[in-house]
Amino acid sequence: MNQTDKEARLNERDLPLVSALKKGRQRHSFHMPANRAGQSFSAAFRTLLTELDTTELATTGDINQPDGVVLEALRVAARAFGAARTYFITSGTTNSLRIALATAFREGDRVLLAKGSHLSIANSCALLGLEAVFIRQDELPRFPDGQVSEAEVLRSLEEEEDLAGVLLTTPGYYGENLTLEKICKVAHAKNIPVLIDAAHGAHFAIKVEAPVLAEKSWPRTALAQGADLVAQSAHKTLPALTPASLLHLSQGAIDSGRISPTRLAKMLPVFQTSSPSFPIAASLDYARDFLEHDAPSYVARLLESIADFEAQLPQEIHRDYVDGDDPCRLVLDYSDTACSRQKLMEILDFHQVDVELIDARRMVCIPALDTPRSSFNALAEACREIAQVEAGGQSQTAADLAQRKAFLRQEGSSFKIRENFFAESEEIEFQDALGRRSAAMIAPYPPGVPLLWPGEEITEADISLWQELLSLAYDIRGLKSGKVEVLAEE
Ligand SMILES: Cc1ncc(COP(=O)(O)O)c(C=O)c1O
Repeated sequence: MNQTDKEARLNERDLPLVSALKKGRQRHSFHMPANRAGQSFSAAFRTLLTELDTTELATTGDINQPDGVVLEALRVAARAFGAARTYFITSGTTNSLRIALATAFREGDRVLLAKGSHLSIANSCALLGLEAVFIRQDELPRFPDGQVSEAEVLRSLEEEEDLAGVLLTTPGYYGENLTLEKICKVAHAKNIPVLIDAAHGAHFAIKVEAPVLAEKSWPRTALAQGADLVAQSAHKTLPALTPASLLHLSQGAIDSGRISPTRLAKMLPVFQTSSPSFPIAASLDYARDFLEHDAPSYVARLLESIADFEAQLPQEIHRDYVDGDDPCRLVLDYSDTACSRQKLMEILDFHQVDVELIDARRMVCIPALDTPRSSFNALAEACREIAQVEAGGQSQTAADLAQRKAFLRQEGSSFKIRENFFAESEEIEFQDALGRRSAAMIAPYPPGVPLLWPGEEITEADISLWQELLSLAYDIRGLKSGKVEVLAEE
């Protein structure tokens, strides 16, 4: 069969997923991956990608046991990202974090982390038998991803005993950043490592010139601030294939003995497939090269597009940005409009615009570094329509507040997740779950940050928050058809 026949046959057949994905290519993307359906790659590289699919050969080496050309690619990546060693993880930051936790800690270790850590971290704690020690929070988080403040981390570092290490998330889903320098100093003085989930921050390693940014500052990388092990999803903010991830190890971590590279090497094949993807790894090589050479001018153009876009926004919608946030992330607060979350989704869909996340008061847009002006214009047009929606929907700000407040309630300060996650459980209607202990992680998705961890007691406030979020058409992981998994009663 020649190539034309193959194409014709393919068009005749029923490939539901392929057809749906093909349609999505025409839309305006403000979501991951940052390769914009492959358009961010050069045409030559795009064509090459499928041809690069291979297995471990003498000429290619092994991604899980790096030597030869793989090691060479990792070395140049480490230099570009400011690490002592970098590893290509072709199965997402979910796995990079799992490898990092398995490297740094042993079963039963107490790890300080925020309740608002990504689901992948909660799952890893369960699998690895780690005790999650929640950072005590009393400041209302700015966003519903529950990010902690520097002062809260420092206080918990002081208060908690027998910690084996700290795992923090920065930047958050909304582009907010946590300053790490002091935290790293305090943790290192206690001889414990600092692990960072920087899934959203791979692009911070771009060398951006100060004049490009005007009054905004370009965030510092976690490694530059002293972090020991840092996981980044390259596909979220750089031109790389999903789910290309980078795991970086610092020189300080190796020299001090806080992290053993030998143990890390042992963990790579434990969590990665034995057939790691060469196209994904190659896209990490491509993203690194782009970051070093072309990215600064792309950032300059993107920031110009964002500034022009902001100038087009109707007065009812404003950008939520403070200095120190990721200047490339676009958080648009629509709470001064009368538009409901559902109506907003309808309007965006009508304009063929896809955003990353819509919560009860904001939409989070993740432009790629080369998002065209036409997409920003479509988003601006949609925003003008959103602002014109007549009153009708109920105010959603209470739901937003309740979602952020959920992070302040911490009935226990630490959880042995594995015991609860794998314990005998039953599914019941969530309205009947008052006083029962959750056996699941309950997390609105995205951002996939648990409101409740396994073992936490379900309160009246939880049930009414879930009801409220479901009425706003939220997808909540851990709630299926109105049911929740709870620990079986003795
Ligand atoms: C904060 C955070 N950490 C970790 C992850 C997992 O990353 P990946 O999808 O690359 O596995 C995500 C995914 O959205 C995330 O938002």
